[in-house]
Amino acid sequence: MEDGKGPHGSVGRIIKYDRLTSLQQQALEQALTVLDNAYNPYSGFSVGATLISADGRLITGTNFENAAYGSTICAERAAVLQANSMGVRHFTGIAIIARGKNRKATTKVTAPCGSCRQVLWELADLWDGTLDVVLSTTEKDMIILTSIREIFPLPFGPSQMLEKNDILQYRKTNQPLI
Ligand code: THU
Repeated sequence: MEDGKGPHGSVGRIIKYDRLTSLQQQALEQALTVLDNAYNPYSGFSVGATLISADGRLITGTNFENAAYGSTICAERAAVLQANSMGVRHFTGIAIIARGKNRKATTKVTAPCGSCRQVLWELADLWDGTLDVVLSTTEKDMIILTSIREIFPLPFGPSQMLEKNDILQYRKTNQPLI
């Protein structure tokens, strides 16, 4: 299991809590705190995500479900939208943690869904494509450290659609309207 080939497969590597950076630890703690704010009447599953901005800010999100199930917003995308509204688009990492129905602790880490990986790549690709991803069980007894590149290979993103100058513009949130 130490080689990462346990129940979580061989993606990323298992890392102990105390080997995370201080910001990653804080990000995980804040993600754990916002689990209490998840709006999840349909699944009972709570997810908390904290983005770590390049300038060291921590920006959280939690899942927000909808009676029309497909309109549900995941914790990771909620965090991205919150950050964008704060004018922040440059991140070094994200920490994700979840809790099951009736506050049951998860025994497997919770990884971002495909749509969230695509959205995270949108921002990572505006910079140098690096974004650490910290995935944890509720009790933090299993933590996987991986990256957006590793969990989202051969991506499609702004690099395919925009010229370098446009990308430089969109690194800022106050770009002129086109
Ligand atoms: N969910 C997230 O918020 N993030 C993930 O990475 C996986 C799934 C939410 C959506 C829904 O509210 C619940 O978890 C069950 O799918």
